[in-house]
Formats: sequence, structure tokens, C-alpha cells
Amino acid sequence: MDTRRLKEEWEALAPRWIKEVREGGNSVRKGLIDPVMLKALGNVEGLRILDCGCGEGRFCRLLAERGAKYVLGLDLCEPMIEAAKNLQSEREEYRIRDVQDLSFLESESFDLAISYLNQCDLPDFESNVRETYRVLKKGGRFIIANLHPMRSASGKWYKDESGRKLHVMLDQYFDEGERHWEMLGVKFTNFHRSLSTYINCFINTGFVLNEIIEPTVTEDKLTEYPDLEDELRVPNFIVYVLEKPL
Ligand SMILES: C[S@@+](CC[C@H](N)C(=O)[O-])C[C@H]1O[C@@H](n2cnc3c(N)ncnc32)[C@H](O)[C@@H]1O
Repeated sequence: MDTRRLKEEWEALAPRWIKEVREGGNSVRKGLIDPVMLKALGNVEGLRILDCGCGEGRFCRLLAERGAKYVLGLDLCEPMIEAAKNLQSEREEYRIRDVQDLSFLESESFDLAISYLNQCDLPDFESNVRETYRVLKKGGRFIIANLHPMRSASGKWYKDESGRKLHVMLDQYFDEGERHWEMLGVKFTNFHRSLSTYINCFINTGFVLNEIIEPTVTEDKLTEYPDLEDELRVPNFIVYVLEKPL
């Protein structure tokens, strides 16, 4: 599927997505992925940060609040960028761009880059990895949260007659490519790749893989967000901490 059609899908999803992020419970983000991402990021004070696929800017705002010097959020979906601009502080900038092509950015101009649930949306995630490597300073890190390859492959629960979840079905793992889902009542497309495809790309690009984290829910977060119970059973998400060598 070409990028123009993927962009149209995101434009159709954007109003519901923005409402959900800004008014919904956001259990997966607040209870599961944010704590892991923020710990991996560490102190961001004074840093120049690139956010690939920033959506309506939620994580950029969080980084600016934590003292980042400059955060550039890129997203190919215009309504997302418009929404981000509406809440923008002076340390944030937002642009409508395809993160598979960062040729408009100078080499070695960022201290840190993040990708928060965006690489699964890219037909050519390798270009994003290569380009992010180029724009990072030596010693800079690229922290990626993504769908877990175990779950992006097929992703359905096998349930008994009463609807109780028995186990997740894993199939088509080695069949990489498009997957079709529905989110917030809107049909959209994303892409499945195996764990080795991702990791080999990171390594072949030149990154050092410092850490892999498979977020699961802690007891206190489970009390706060009871709907995260499945996260104790299966890995839905994965976080890679990459570093460009000195
Ligand atoms: C799952 S959302 C995540 C948004 C944001 N990072 C967050 O955590 O709220 C994925 C985002 O990636 C954007 N996106 C998809 N393909 C893209 C591309 N090729 N270039 C830039 N952004 C893209 C979508 O428009 C959407 O805003």
C-alpha cells in the first residue's frame, strides 16, 4: 500500500484518535509504555529531541515539560500536526513530514530520537532507522516503542463459549507485510515484521542495541488501570534502546 493511502487512513482516524488521547483513559500509554520510555530516556534536560510519528504531540509536550531544549515532532497526518500546534510551547516545533525521508534535517543535529508506536505504521521502517541514525549525534540514542512482533503477526485471542480469554493465537509470524485492523471504529493498515528483521536492521545500520524491554504491568499500575490485566499474560509491546557509537 502506498504512503498516500496510509496517510488518508490516518486522516480518517485522527479526530477519534485525538479525542481518545486527550480525553480517554490511555491505560496502555500511562500505565504501561510511558513509565518504561521515560525510564529509558533518563534526564532529557537541555537535549534536542526528534519524535518520529508524534501524533497529536502528547509525548513531545511531556519531553518539553521535562526540560528538553527543543523537540521536533514529525507526522504525515495534517490534523494530528494541527492539534499538536494548538498546544505547542516555545520549545516544541511540529511539521507535516513522512519520517521515512528525513533529508530536510541536518546530519548529527539531534541528541536523542524517539519513535512511539510508529515503526509498525511504516512500509519502509529501514529508511526511518537509517535516516534517524544519520541525524543523531555520535553517542545519541534512538528509543523505539513498537508493537511486539508476537502480537503484530496475527493478534487474536482464542476464547471459550462464555467469552473468557484462553490464549493468544500466534500465526503468520514469518509472513511479513500488511495487516488490516480496526481501531476506534476506523479501518487501518499496519505492518508486521519478525523480531530478527527489526534487530538485524538496527545492527546493520550501525546502532548498538543497549537494551530490549518487554513492558508488563506492575501491581500499582494494575490497581490504577485494571484493564491492563492482559499485559501480565502476553507481550503486546516492545521497547528497543539503540545508541549511535562515538
Ligand atoms: C499509533 S500513532 C502514535 C502517535 C504518537 N507517537 C503517540 O504515541 O500518541 C502513529 C502515528 O504515526 C503517524 N504516521 C504513520 N505513518 C507515518 C509516516 N510515514 N511518517 C510520519 N508519521 C506517520 C500517524 O499519522 C500517527 O499519528
